[in-house]
Amino acid sequence: MTSYKELGLVNTVELFKKAVSGGYAIPAYNFNNMEQLQAIIQACVETKSPVILQVSSGARKYANQTLLRHMARGAVEYAHELGYDIPIVLHLDHGDSFELCKDCIESGFSSVMIDGSHLPYDENVALTKKVCEFAHSRKDYVSVEGELGVLAGVEDDVSAEHSHYTQPEEVEDFVRKTGVDSLAISIGTSHGRTKFKPEQCTRDANGILIPPPLRFDILEEIEKRIPGFPIVLHGSSSVPIEYVKLIEKYGGSMKDSVGIPEEQLRRAAKSAVCKINIDSDGRLAMTAMIRKVFAEKPDEFDPRKYLGPARDELKKLYMHKNINVLGSAGKA
Ligand code: G3H
Ligand code: 13P
Ligand code: ZN
Repeated sequence: MTSYKELGLVNTVELFKKAVSGGYAIPAYNFNNMEQLQAIIQACVETKSPVILQVSSGARKYANQTLLRHMARGAVEYAHELGYDIPIVLHLDHGDSFELCKDCIESGFSSVMIDGSHLPYDENVALTKKVCEFAHSRKDYVSVEGELGVLAGVEDDVSAEHSHYTQPEEVEDFVRKTGVDSLAISIGTSHGRTKFKPEQCTRDANGILIPPPLRFDILEEIEKRIPGFPIVLHGSSSVPIEYVKLIEKYGGSMKDSVGIPEEQLRRAAKSAVCKINIDSDGRLAMTAMIRKVFAEKPDEFDPRKYLGPARDELKKLYMHKNINVLGSAGKA
């Protein structure tokens, strides 16, 4: 058994307190491999931002849980070596069972999400409470994120046919009964690069899809009911059109891509939203660069020559997010 403190990691409690009162959000970036982790740490050290490293159960299967944990420990030392110690959280993204959360907690995660959002309300409460009781009774307190309301699309191993917004009248009861440290809500975001159907959007003069706005009215209603309580937004990639175009230019197919506009995320970050989850934008950035190298240098076969540019683009993207979207730059 390993405690996250031995790995040099922190939980989310203090970070969220500061983020809510400071009007910014902590970036939660998913990682599955070394290049993604390097980009995240380089970007967050250079912008002096705290960071949440997110591991999905898909990532655990892909990369191996032991390797990922040791990579997170390495990230702490890597940040130090780069010249600035930033707070680093190792977080399970979309945990779907008590056993998975327990396993992560016992192996050094400092934070877990238990996603019971697809369950009937009472079952979600019971499962989330069970995880909280376990996580909070550890010698080193592990923070827990719960979810109310269902996001459209695929959430790792959890897939939702129909989304529904968080019902503000449930949040107070859920938070009180479960003891969660933060709450993920559904106000119109969803996972992946096609966050809305084209028929839900309008188009600008160039035919680019303009999504419907997030339901800030629901967010405000939730904030009224649980003032200052840390809120999490999943599915918060903006799906930059530049990357979509680059991927298509170099042979990819990215039909109907549409994300959450950055101004709306900036607005959310100024509220009680203190954790913003971003994965798809990183995937787009890497894919765009790899396709570009493959198209421009067909004889290249050294992985460093295409993964390197992908990593550099990813770092640029994350620096931009921290500085211009989440406002987490300078907060470490
Ligand atoms: O919420 C989903 C995240 O983007 C993780 O995706 O399950 O494919 O690793 P993944
Ligand atoms: P995106 O697919 O919008 O990047 O969302 C990622 C996420 O919510 C991970 O939990
Ligand atoms: Zn998510």
